[in-house]
Amino acid sequence: MFSLKDKTALVTGSTFGIGLGILKVFARAGANVVMNGRRKPEDHDALMADLSSHGNKAIFVQGDVTKAGERGRMLKESLDAFGRFDILVNNAGSFFDHGWSNLTEEIFDQTFNLNVKGMLFTSRLAIEHFRSTGQRGSIVMVGSVNSFASERGTTCYDMSKGAILMMTRALAVETFKDNINVNALCPGLVDTPLVRRLIGDEAKFRTVGEGVPKGRWCTIEECGYAALYLVSDEGSYMTGQHIILDGGILAVQYTRISDLGTEGLGT
Ligand SMILES: NC(=O)c1ccc[n+]([C@@H]2O[C@H](COP(=O)([O-])OP(=O)(O)OC[C@H]3O[C@@H](n4cnc5c(N)ncnc54)[C@H](OP(=O)(O)O)[C@@H]3O)[C@@H](O)[C@H]2O)c1
Repeated sequence: MFSLKDKTALVTGSTFGIGLGILKVFARAGANVVMNGRRKPEDHDALMADLSSHGNKAIFVQGDVTKAGERGRMLKESLDAFGRFDILVNNAGSFFDHGWSNLTEEIFDQTFNLNVKGMLFTSRLAIEHFRSTGQRGSIVMVGSVNSFASERGTTCYDMSKGAILMMTRALAVETFKDNINVNALCPGLVDTPLVRRLIGDEAKFRTVGEGVPKGRWCTIEECGYAALYLVSDEGSYMTGQHIILDGGILAVQYTRISDLGTEGLGT
């Protein structure tokens, strides 16, 4: 069940954070995994040893997904290393907003270049490869709860994460007949170096986690297990869809009947 044995998976932006969690889970499922980032991680050797300890192999491919030539090279190096290419996870994405009043065209371009354009054109390369071989191919886009609900001060990030959902559907429509699955994974609050750096203080970090309906932050491995379903043979009927992995964030209404003092209404 849920074996990725002999498959090759490239996860963009996977030297730390959610991408690394996805890579670890795919490696445990037997996939040959390709780690990517703009910089080679300092603990490269230890990470590679860990990622290749499941009867599989692991490599690091340096590359920036916002640069057209580097996207093509990353896919080629993955294919050259393992002789086949099956899974692309478009995880590299980030957050450049500094509040509504500081919004600039540069921030918009930077956000959409990475979060939307990078994902679209890396996906196109993967789709062309899958079509040329006729074998099954899977693509996962990493969206967010911000694909569904906005926050003050994160206009560009939220718009880009919303676009990822429509990109997922559009690419699924283009590939229905090609044995290709395109889906999105939309996490809520995930414990990554990025958010720890943004929040700074450990006590505040804990308080934010306690505010999630589940009472804690999501782990990077939990993101990996949700992604595993999307790229597994068992998940092959799912395309053009998304998994929201948010510990209940989007299930809660802002206004609660109990807060209005109307408990028992209708009973
Ligand atoms: N953390 C959360 O709570 C959360 C929640 C929902 C969604 N997300 C989404 O999940 C994804 C990952 O977020 P994260 O929090 O794990 O950490 P992150 O800081 O956004 O990403 C870390 C990884 O991305 C790489 N990266 C950054 N820019 C890149 C580029 N242009 N090309 C290639 N690699 C690049 C980094 O390595 P280098 O710096 O060396 O390039 C690193 O490997 C993002 O799409 C984010 O929007 C995060």
